[in-house]
Amino acid sequence: MPVLECERVRLRAFRASDVHAAFALFGDPEVARYWSGPAWITLEQAQAWLAPQLAPLEDKPSMLPWAVADRTTDRMIGTGTLFAINYDQQRAEIGYSLQRAHWGQGLATEVARRMLDYGFDVLKLRRVEADTDPRNTASLRLLEKLGFQREGYARERWNVVTEICDAVLLGLLAREYKR
Ligand SMILES: CC(C)(COP(=O)(O)OP(=O)(O)OC[C@H]1O[C@@H](n2cnc3c(N)ncnc32)[C@H](O)[C@@H]1OP(=O)(O)O)[C@@H](O)C(=O)NCCC(=O)NCCS
Repeated sequence: MPVLECERVRLRAFRASDVHAAFALFGDPEVARYWSGPAWITLEQAQAWLAPQLAPLEDKPSMLPWAVADRTTDRMIGTGTLFAINYDQQRAEIGYSLQRAHWGQGLATEVARRMLDYGFDVLKLRRVEADTDPRNTASLRLLEKLGFQREGYARERWNVVTEICDAVLLGLLAREYKR
């Protein structure tokens, strides 16, 4: 798993010791609000989520799951993911999350930029896609600030157990990406 340094955070491989940080992250209903299901309520849910992310990467992985860690302490404070990586079609999807205490400081912007740099420069992607709940103002603002364009609106795309949610589909082309 490549380690990607940002100004204030680092993207690194997950470790088994990240389990409590992962539980603090997705056990927070505010973080889980527009994620794919309700907030976790047991540590076992965090363990079950973390286990597959600890496996060694195969050649040409379809998913790159990074832990976002504080650069000074190396403690996990969030996640950054490139997934649905299709090498033939040169595209992938992007996702990110941060513990609530770290919101509003531009950290997710750093994380997303670093993943986009990696995706476009190293993986040679032509296109990165994102799928966001239309009410997720922070995520939409972040994506549009980076140059993503709204390309579609998918009604009732997600069943997140507690409700059925629509999705805004966005895309960013390598040639449009401003560093
Ligand atoms: C989405 C998320 C990662 C943003 O993290 P963040 O570090 O606070 O984002 P940034 O500070 O980099 O802000 C990005 C932009 O969004 C804006 N923004 C942040 N929170 C906002 C809010 N609640 N309402 C409106 N705009 C907001 C910021 O002002 C910034 O725009 P600006 O540079 O023009 O000021 C964070 O809110 C989160 O973890 N949410 C839960 C998980 C999630 O929903 N992930 C996305 C799934 S698609």
